[in-house]
Amino acid sequence: MALRWTSISGFRIAFAGIVLLLCAAAAAIDGSQAAPIGVNWGDMARQPLAPEVVVKLLQSNNISRVKLFDTKAPILEALSGTGIEVMVGAPNSLLPALAAPGGNGEQAAADWVAQNLTRFLRRADGGVKIRYVAVGNEPFYGPNNATYGHLCLPALRNVQKAIGAAGLGGKVFATVPFSADVLDEAGASPDPSSGAFRPDIAAVMRGIVASYVETGAPFCVNLYPFINLVYSTGFPSDFAFFGAHSSRDSVTNLTYHSVFDAMFDRVVSALAKVGAPALPIVVGEVGWPTDGNPVANVSNAQRFNNELLAHVANGSGSPLRPDEPFDIFLFGLLDENLKDLLDGITPYERHWGIFLHDGTPKYPIDLSGRGDSGSWPKAAVGVKHLDRKFCVLSPNLHPDPVVLGQKVDFACAHSDCSALQVGGSCSGLNSSMIASYAFNNYFQFNYQQAQFCNVDTLGMVVTTDPSTERCKFPLGLDYPAASSRSLLIARGTIFSALFPFLLFLVL
Ligand SMILES: *[C@@H]1O[C@H](CO)[C@@H](O)[C@H](O)[C@H]1NC(C)=O
Ligand SMILES: *[C@@H]1O[C@H](CO)[C@@H](O)[C@H](O)[C@H]1NC(C)=O
Ligand SMILES: *[C@@H]1O[C@H](CO)[C@@H](O)[C@H](O)[C@H]1NC(C)=O
Ligand SMILES: *[C@@H]1O[C@H](CO)[C@@H](O)[C@H](O)[C@H]1NC(C)=O
Ligand SMILES: *[C@@H]1O[C@H](CO)[C@@H](O)[C@H](O)[C@H]1NC(C)=O
Ligand SMILES: *[C@@H]1O[C@H](CO)[C@@H](O)[C@H](O)[C@H]1NC(C)=O
Ligand SMILES: *[C@@H]1O[C@H](CO)[C@@H](O)[C@H](O)[C@H]1NC(C)=O
Repeated sequence: MALRWTSISGFRIAFAGIVLLLCAAAAAIDGSQAAPIGVNWGDMARQPLAPEVVVKLLQSNNISRVKLFDTKAPILEALSGTGIEVMVGAPNSLLPALAAPGGNGEQAAADWVAQNLTRFLRRADGGVKIRYVAVGNEPFYGPNNATYGHLCLPALRNVQKAIGAAGLGGKVFATVPFSADVLDEAGASPDPSSGAFRPDIAAVMRGIVASYVETGAPFCVNLYPFINLVYSTGFPSDFAFFGAHSSRDSVTNLTYHSVFDAMFDRVVSALAKVGAPALPIVVGEVGWPTDGNPVANVSNAQRFNNELLAHVANGSGSPLRPDEPFDIFLFGLLDENLKDLLDGITPYERHWGIFLHDGTPKYPIDLSGRGDSGSWPKAAVGVKHLDRKFCVLSPNLHPDPVVLGQKVDFACAHSDCSALQVGGSCSGLNSSMIASYAFNNYFQFNYQQAQFCNVDTLGMVVTTDPSTERCKFPLGLDYPAASSRSLLIARGTIFSALFPFLLFLVL
């Protein structure tokens, strides 16, 4: 859910992507049946859906497991008493405190467990069914490694101890969601059986894995075939999906029909090399985006996710672990229009949802994996949109293109223009439509307040939807309450600020 690191050197990426998403779901594998599908619920969004609306969306779609990135009280309260199994997260920003030396980290972990775990477990309505605690998120991933890598094991240890001291050992399991780049891919053989952890973290991985064996926690890793396809030159596109391409491991002679399985087995092989050949694996994130890149479209996402779910529902596992059903968390539930785009190079990051930002499903998908892939998920109920008003570039103006470009950049920097990028659903519009799209997003992000459509007299509010067949102009949501909005506006600015110079060039 954090940034997905993408070294552009082809080979490395080819495999790194896939591994990003595997989180090991622990102990309770009964050997025959796949665990129900889990879904990542991220909320890095302007005007997110209300937690109660999202919980009803989960229930109406029979989604019984979610992975969160935090422990926000309103979200956990909405999940309380529902029986939905939850993985909560202690974000990377808490790792320094949780790993602090001299007993301070132990104390911080005990406080965290009391305030953010126990409090939600023990409630009159039965509480939140928390099964996992994610300690940090992708701490060894490229740019995170220097800041968080050394904190990972001590923080994990302290959280494990605090969970034990709270009497939750064997009930709640601490694990660290890793990105696929924990694997050593530099010059590595493509054989899954050759999988190994990066030499710079092999020793710490050995310690982490030993602590999982001790506590009964699974290994958690995120795997993204989409990243393999996008960043590896010459990658066979069918291998990003399931069944239509095969490749053989030259050592084991096992056949692979998907890079997902190949990456999974690279993790299996790496675990064996650090002394944990049978450690259960949970895929913490796996999915396919629908916008912001030429291969991120609805048909590919529908194909990938339906094939993945059928593969999981089959109940058998990877070639190296044929008897261990996969345990996966889809990424993700909803689009997140404030996610970081790595200086604009990963516009697809905001489009991983099965559902659009407002809870509308994007394509038919059978979340049970039982093959009914023609059926649509149920849309969110009780979503309040803002009025049917849009902001567009006033017609018959002939603004200086440089000035207009600057206005567009500004509007985009304070909203979400990822769909305008190459391969996006709104790429290829003419310059007035691009300006309208940008102005409208800025206007919706700011709750349609008139001053946010002025854009120095270039903008105009209209009631006819300017959308084209491919490019949908979003309508904002009337959430959260007006009193909490200014804070969000400031936050949105920070998250989007780096974005949109590409647009300028388009104009
Ligand atoms: C809902 O999911 C549970 C567990 O995954 C399954 O047993 C049940 O049959 C599902 N119900 C429907 C209506 O799909
Ligand atoms: C509980 O979690 C929140 C959100 O991550 C965090 O801000 C807070 O510091 C945590 N409480 C403790 C005692 O660590
Ligand atoms: C990543 O972090 C680990 C743990 O601190 C450290 O040993 C390793 O050298 C780091 N790797 C890189 C490439 O900086
Ligand atoms: C590997 O598998 C192929 C196809 O199943 C078979 O033809 C071949 O003999 C096997 N090679 C070895 C070394 O087992
Ligand atoms: C989606 O992308 C694929 C290329 O990966 C392309 O072949 C297909 O036509 C696209 N589908 C749509 C509906 O644009
Ligand atoms: C699972 O897939 C394997 C390999 O394609 C197949 O042989 C098996 O029959 C499938 N099992 C089920 C329960 O569908
Ligand atoms: C831009 O595209 C829109 C919608 O397709 C069209 O109505 C408009 O006339 C075009 N404007 C210019 C200047 O070409």
